[in-house]
Amino acid sequence: MTKVTQPCTPFEGQKPGTSGLRKKTRVFMQPGFVECFVQSTFNAVGGVAGKTLVVGGDGRYFNAEAIQIILRMAAANGAKRAIVGQGGLLSTPAASNLIRQRKADGGLILSASHNPGGIDADFGLKYNISNGGPAPEGVTDAIFAQTKTISEYHTLDTADLDLNQIGETALDEMAVEIVDPVTDYADLMQTLFDFDAIRALFAGGFSLRFDAMHAVTGPYATAILEGLLGAPDGTVMNAVPSVDFGKGHPDPNPIWAKPLVDLVMGDDGPDFAAASDGDGDRNMILGRGIYVTPSDSLAVLAANAHLAPGYAGGLAGVARSMPTSRAADRVAEAKGLGCYETPTGWKFFGNLLDAGKVTLCGEESAGTGSDHVREKDGLWAVLLWLNILAARKVSVQDILADHWQTYGRNYYSRHDYEAIATDKANALMTGLTDRMDDLPGTVVGGLTIAGADQFSYTDPVDGSVSRNQGLRIHFEGGGRAVLRLSGTGTEGATLRVYLERYEPAGGDLFLDTQDALSGIIAATRALCQLTETTGRTAPDVMT
Ligand code: G6P
Ligand code: ZN
Repeated sequence: MTKVTQPCTPFEGQKPGTSGLRKKTRVFMQPGFVECFVQSTFNAVGGVAGKTLVVGGDGRYFNAEAIQIILRMAAANGAKRAIVGQGGLLSTPAASNLIRQRKADGGLILSASHNPGGIDADFGLKYNISNGGPAPEGVTDAIFAQTKTISEYHTLDTADLDLNQIGETALDEMAVEIVDPVTDYADLMQTLFDFDAIRALFAGGFSLRFDAMHAVTGPYATAILEGLLGAPDGTVMNAVPSVDFGKGHPDPNPIWAKPLVDLVMGDDGPDFAAASDGDGDRNMILGRGIYVTPSDSLAVLAANAHLAPGYAGGLAGVARSMPTSRAADRVAEAKGLGCYETPTGWKFFGNLLDAGKVTLCGEESAGTGSDHVREKDGLWAVLLWLNILAARKVSVQDILADHWQTYGRNYYSRHDYEAIATDKANALMTGLTDRMDDLPGTVVGGLTIAGADQFSYTDPVDGSVSRNQGLRIHFEGGGRAVLRLSGTGTEGATLRVYLERYEPAGGDLFLDTQDALSGIIAATRALCQLTETTGRTAPDVMT
């Protein structure tokens, strides 16, 4: 086994986005591409000599090959130990947990999250730091700087390791520990939730359908829901991870998980249904006859988390990304909790969680989590919902109705316009940005604009500032539209338009969401001249 130092030239565009580096799979498969990015990452964190790294991914196409490259490079760079999920699998929250439990120095997670997998689909790679969370901007900026000047990488000239055998092996001087991907995570869940109560719920005939979408949560959900909690066999659908996610989009939203939505909207639907994404950090929550928006889910969890043992002492505070609806803010206000608004991207919650300022966090993009790890966590959200349902013994519909009658309802929807030519999307955003100062007081589509700004975030813990995080339009009467370009797409630009209107308790709480938002939708489209600039007449996805 010889160490090899390989000269290389920088690849363009290795800039980590909202959640690590995400590109078409074939881009990652170019000789040297993974190597340059991984060596840049190692260099940016001061090298990995003597360090312990967690490595795993969501099992998509090229996962296995990329892990072998990373392990060889970690060994050649002097890492002391690599902890790897069996078969190269680790859900993102399970990887975060392992980094924390094992006091690792960091981890490399291979995933393009909810994007499709396959040789003609997407791949991704990101670095998490020792708190278990995604690298903050200071680190991702340093990685990007390295990618621009990288001139060599270190690797080993050796055969692939067998990652299927649980136990300890070695690669040169680096110990390689292959672990069951589920065990530590399942242990953690049992410390947070009342498994006896949830088991009793299932024993009483409560029905659940969990759609793993052919992705990484299959083994986790099967072991926990069907194994430890006694839900009937078949509760978990699409439970076996496949490299192309059964040729679907492993994105738990009403579009890509339509069969599950149809099931719960039918007369014989299960009491509760949920889905998770490619790497297991997102969640979608449904009850018989109802889809729960991620923003509402965060608010309901914030209002009820104390019913679960892990949160019985109450919450330190709640955080949400800026475009997420302000439903959680109302709960925080009523309960006297701290409430924080961050830019899109889970990494912005890390400091707040580490500093003990918040316990729960959530994003409109189907992410919810807590201080138990430093990533959002799909199955955790499902288990917290189950714990609440077991404690309250009412339906999901009743929980939502009660919530809105208590706090009022934030009608909310996100409209996505996908694969717009980048120049057109930029023109739309720049055009609107240039007019921001003049907007207050103007009337558009019959609505008066009360305020408009560009969101900028100052981290209350380390004082770092993140600018240009989205355009906010506030309408008189409390409505809001937010516009930003996605940081996770791999094709052209995706324009996200987030729409929200507040209806107080006692008001019209049970309208159709799109109807309730129609005025704000029309005003926003007119304001940014959406059709004129992009040629698009309707969104590709509405959540
Ligand atoms: C990933 C990140 C989330 C983020 C989401 C949407 O899932 O982990 O934190 O909210 O992407 O990002 P985008 O930039 O595409 O709106
Ligand atoms: Zn994900």
